[in-house]
Amino acid sequence: MCGIVAYIGKQEAFPIILKGLKRLEYRGYDSSGIAVVNNDSLNVFKKQGKVAMLEEFVTDKDTSGCIGIGHTRWATHGLPTDANAHPHSSGNEKFALVHNGIIENYAIIKENLINKGHTFLSETDTEVLMHLIEEISTQHDCDLFTAVRLALNEVIGAYAIVVINKENDQELIAARKSSPLVVGIGKGEYFCASDATPIIEFTKNVVYLEDGEIAKLSLKDGLKLKTIKNETKTPFIQKLEMELETLEKGGYDHFMLKEIFEQPKSVQDCMRGRLVLNENKVSLGGILNYKEQIVNAKRIIVIACGTSWHAGLVGEYLFEELARVPVEVEYASEFRYRNPIIYPDDVVIAISQSGETADTLAAIELAKSKGATIVGVCNVVGSSISRATDCGSYTHAGPEIGVASTKAFTAQVTVLTLMAMMIGREKGTISDERFTRLMIDLDNIPHKIESVLKTDAQIQKIADIYKDSPNALFLGRGINFPVALEGALKLKEISYIHAEGYPAAEMKHGPIALIDEEMPTFVVATKDGSYEKVVSNIQEVKARKGKVIAIVTKGDKVVKGIADHVIEIPKTDDMLVPLIATIPMQLLSYHIAVMRNCNVDQPRNLAKSVTVE
Ligand code: G6P
Repeated sequence: MCGIVAYIGKQEAFPIILKGLKRLEYRGYDSSGIAVVNNDSLNVFKKQGKVAMLEEFVTDKDTSGCIGIGHTRWATHGLPTDANAHPHSSGNEKFALVHNGIIENYAIIKENLINKGHTFLSETDTEVLMHLIEEISTQHDCDLFTAVRLALNEVIGAYAIVVINKENDQELIAARKSSPLVVGIGKGEYFCASDATPIIEFTKNVVYLEDGEIAKLSLKDGLKLKTIKNETKTPFIQKLEMELETLEKGGYDHFMLKEIFEQPKSVQDCMRGRLVLNENKVSLGGILNYKEQIVNAKRIIVIACGTSWHAGLVGEYLFEELARVPVEVEYASEFRYRNPIIYPDDVVIAISQSGETADTLAAIELAKSKGATIVGVCNVVGSSISRATDCGSYTHAGPEIGVASTKAFTAQVTVLTLMAMMIGREKGTISDERFTRLMIDLDNIPHKIESVLKTDAQIQKIADIYKDSPNALFLGRGINFPVALEGALKLKEISYIHAEGYPAAEMKHGPIALIDEEMPTFVVATKDGSYEKVVSNIQEVKARKGKVIAIVTKGDKVVKGIADHVIEIPKTDDMLVPLIATIPMQLLSYHIAVMRNCNVDQPRNLAKSVTVE
């Protein structure tokens, strides 16, 4: 959701920013823009639609200049038009600003500014902030660094901003509160971006701005950091571990397909050093300091959104079965506004791929204020959520660029499995024999995922049969119920087919009314504790002439005899089935979306990182 890229140095800024915006396209957006300063003039280029349209728009224009700011906008205040796109200029056209987040009190500030003679060209809250900075800089006759700081003291809301001044091409001003911003430090040049992806090919040295910090990136004075309360801070420079290749498609048609096929490796990476087979133990270094609180928790509350919430639901089955601890799984957006009951001996697990989801962050703050221990399960290293939690385990899935989450989901489930096993082992709620068996089965999961990926051609054929269905139903029971939810979410996200996930038995209480000979039902029918029951549910669908596509355990004959299509997956422990059963669902959605000519990696209206509530 919204992306920022900025550059100051000796190179041409425009191409660097343009390339950076393309790297951020995965976050989701509907317009883009770049402003550069050249010889005391401020040139702003903005276009509705994709970054490619901005690129085309500037072909006959002079975009030169060694300092600039760029933005991809995901519309909140006002339609995705050229006028509403960022950057926004001040009334005197001296400054320009890009902004991620929402200024909540913009309406009252706007009214005050209009009374002072300001006129506005867009409907955005961002333009209001730009004019406020301009007003303060004129009133106080101060430099831009000070004007931005004073303005930010007057706004309520979330922001990551970068501002330029056409009269000073030697510095950029950047600030953040509840919306991420990373500063890259090169040789005689600085970069600024919403995440590290636009920066990585230029430098690995970065500073993650903290909430309430404001930075001056000056070619003369270096990097200066202050809080918006005017306290000086020392920048903490970190080294990025990410590699550039992980941001490229590597021969695949789409990032999503690449990421689906990366899962044997990402699950392996997630377990590396944690599943210690020769010592028969699970070791999660990132939560060791809070092991006592976690093992003794009276209750675990999982907070997350979207696919991460589905991973949390799988976690509920894992923790209850293996660690015998009650679990509640909450949508972060509901939890934060519900006045929830939270005790100091509760453990809250916040799951987030991006580590930036605004609702999850706010839910963490709420749980923290009640004294609970907060454990993070994040993919993006250094992200806001990973820093807001007491402890945590990274998923180590590598950058996920496709908006629809795939490898991050299986990595999240892997981490939750490891946590449940570790707690169960400590508490003595798993027998030695089961623990050892789980260790071996988990260790084999990457190979099993590989074998499921080999069914891709078969899945493609099934996709071709059902690609035009307007609706689809996904069913599963027990730990595979969240797999059904995730399957439905994947299909609707990228192919725009209406799909619903249900616990198989619940089908009788509503969705069965939808079943006719046109309606495909995707069922997880693996050989586990609820196998017989699922078989009955499949019979119920077939009795109404519905089409059934079942994911079954290798060698299954019963379901093969009833279903229209079966996709075989290898046998594993019941608790680990989601890690492999989810793969055919991902491939089905992917192929259906491609066949429907949908933009698989950047589905309409969706954002990868949802930084507004
Ligand atoms: C967005 C993304 C989803 C993701 C959800 C939660 O909706 O499109 O793929 O599951 O946010 O994001 P998080 O980064 O917190 O896991």
